[in-house]
Amino acid sequence: MFEHIFSAASEVDRAFLFILAFAVGALVLVTALMLYFSWRYHHTRNPEAVEIPGSLTLELLWTIIPSVIVMAMFWFGWTSFKAMRTVPEGAMEVAVEARMWSWSFTYPGGKRSAVLVAPVGADVKLAMTSRDVIHSFYVPALRIKMDTVPGLTTTAWFNASAPGEFDILCAEYCGLKHANMITTLRVVPAGEFEQWLAGADGAGTRARELFETYGCTGCHDLAGADGLGPALDALGGRMVDVLLPGGGRAQVLSDADYLRRAVLDPGAEVVAGYEPMMPPYQDQIPEADLEAMVQWMLTGDPAGPPPGRELAEAEGCMSCHSTDGSYIAGPSFRGLAGAVRRVQDGSGAVREVVADDAYLAESILAPGALVVEGEAPIMPAYDALDAEQVGLLVDYIKSLGPQDGAQAGAGQ
Ligand code: CUA
Repeated sequence: MFEHIFSAASEVDRAFLFILAFAVGALVLVTALMLYFSWRYHHTRNPEAVEIPGSLTLELLWTIIPSVIVMAMFWFGWTSFKAMRTVPEGAMEVAVEARMWSWSFTYPGGKRSAVLVAPVGADVKLAMTSRDVIHSFYVPALRIKMDTVPGLTTTAWFNASAPGEFDILCAEYCGLKHANMITTLRVVPAGEFEQWLAGADGAGTRARELFETYGCTGCHDLAGADGLGPALDALGGRMVDVLLPGGGRAQVLSDADYLRRAVLDPGAEVVAGYEPMMPPYQDQIPEADLEAMVQWMLTGDPAGPPPGRELAEAEGCMSCHSTDGSYIAGPSFRGLAGAVRRVQDGSGAVREVVADDAYLAESILAPGALVVEGEAPIMPAYDALDAEQVGLLVDYIKSLGPQDGAQAGAGQ
């Protein structure tokens, strides 16, 4: 009836459809009988009440038939439950950690990611827990929904039979940004998964993600197809015809400088044949991200993102802290380093501090100690990080620039 990528999911649908069909059948039958009886036994047709002593046949029928139906429901429910709960021997185990408000996946060998990547046709066991409150791991395409509970490991498993991208949601209300607690299950061919796990394609994947993050892929294809703008994989390193704002034409080499200009101030040199409709990205893309994207356009094999960025994503920092100055659920990382912050300590006293290295490190390890004025003290302590990891995160925050004046700490 539906396309399934997971065999146990079809068992679940079978149980669901059986119960639904029975419920609809019962509704129709009861409604029809009700109408018939109110006509058949209307008092104008039956002025004398009749004494009915009982009927063994009827008693047996309405005991046996519903019992059989309920047992059939149990059977379908039980087989789908068993299919969902019986993890095959030898399944690859991925650790899932939920927290406000993001997901983190750890693979055999220790690699971590913020999206769940799995090979086609492999049994994958998910060992799930939560860092803070109860969340619920929900993948509609797999018919999997399982709570993640602090201090407890819950499990689920799947085996996806086809590649594709599927939504992962949080199905348990968990606070302010519950609705943002979304990520993706990416099912890829086994070879690609091995490569990804070994980190061989990390930088390229990263650049692709950046093009998506900044909305580039809405107009630009990454693999040669023409869109509202030129395909990005074929743009770098060649001579392109461009239109100048004054109406002139020029030939330019699309080197790193040109690509950079084309992102930051696209109206200045529009590739011939395209409308000058792209918005300028000046001040909207952190330098490290821009560099990775330009490198990808030039070589298809960019220098990797700063390691701190990857760590920040894997740790889920990005679900509350933006890198472009906007407010999500905590101060933006952009312009944070070196800024003067008004903070509140445990006793409620407010004072000003400079967001230097030590302050940034403390804010990661013990965020409750000094909370930026106007913010709720909702950030969990990341005290499981070691000094090197904290250093990477601090360096990444510093790479997003010093305070540029107007950026507000709290947006509400
Ligand atoms: Cu986590 Cu809702």
